[in-house]
Amino acid sequence: MKRISTTAIILLAVALISTQCTDEKKEDTTSATSEVKPTVAQFGGFDSQVKWGERLVTICGCNDCHTPKKMGPNGPENDMSKMLSGHPGQMPTPAFDSKEAAKKGLIVTQTFTSWTGPWGTTYAANLTSDSTGIGNWKEEQFLKALHEKKWMGLDNTRPLMPPMSMMPATEMNDDELKAIFAYLKTTPPVKNVIPEAALLPPPAPAK
Ligand code: HEC
Repeated sequence: MKRISTTAIILLAVALISTQCTDEKKEDTTSATSEVKPTVAQFGGFDSQVKWGERLVTICGCNDCHTPKKMGPNGPENDMSKMLSGHPGQMPTPAFDSKEAAKKGLIVTQTFTSWTGPWGTTYAANLTSDSTGIGNWKEEQFLKALHEKKWMGLDNTRPLMPPMSMMPATEMNDDELKAIFAYLKTTPPVKNVIPEAALLPPPAPAK
């Protein structure tokens, strides 16, 4: 019985392999006549690296935290006149008890640009082409900032903190980040110096 079934499996496998070979030959003939060639998708299919970068910034939600908000009919909305300029430098952070925040959750300003939690308070960076943004940054810095999670993308700086350290942008590949950087260099410059982060010592690990 076992022998029969083994033979049957071998026969079936041979039949399948020969069918595949026939299919392949058929495909070969078709492609030769219709001249279908594989295409290399450059810039994610967009016309230029900058356009691809703009698209990535839009769909990856960089504006959510890096663009201040203004009040609209349905509540806060992105103030695109200050696109990607980060936490408004002059805006006071709401008074809070950092220990309570660490225990109970997070505090976020209505601009979505300042975040307080167990790590302290961080302010979304100015990503515009201004010198107070990424205007003087080199591409390598931008890649290091996100891939190695280093503030300013420099060695010997503090680690990038939440929520940025948890963002999917840190998982992007070099080409995607280079496209975003190329786009950010073309953004209208907005002068805005971001307050320094107020970091707390790391909390004790949960028992
Ligand atoms: C959930 C909010 C949030 C989102 C979404 C977000 N960021 Fe950030 N980002 C921050 C905060 C807050 C900081 C400051 C972190 C710190 O001080 O360590 C920051 C910092 C950065 C820095 C480091 C700036 C510096 O001076 O070192 C870069 C670069 C950056 N963000 C790029 C991006 C890009 C590109 C996107 C979209 C793909 C994005 N961020 C989406 C909140 C966010």
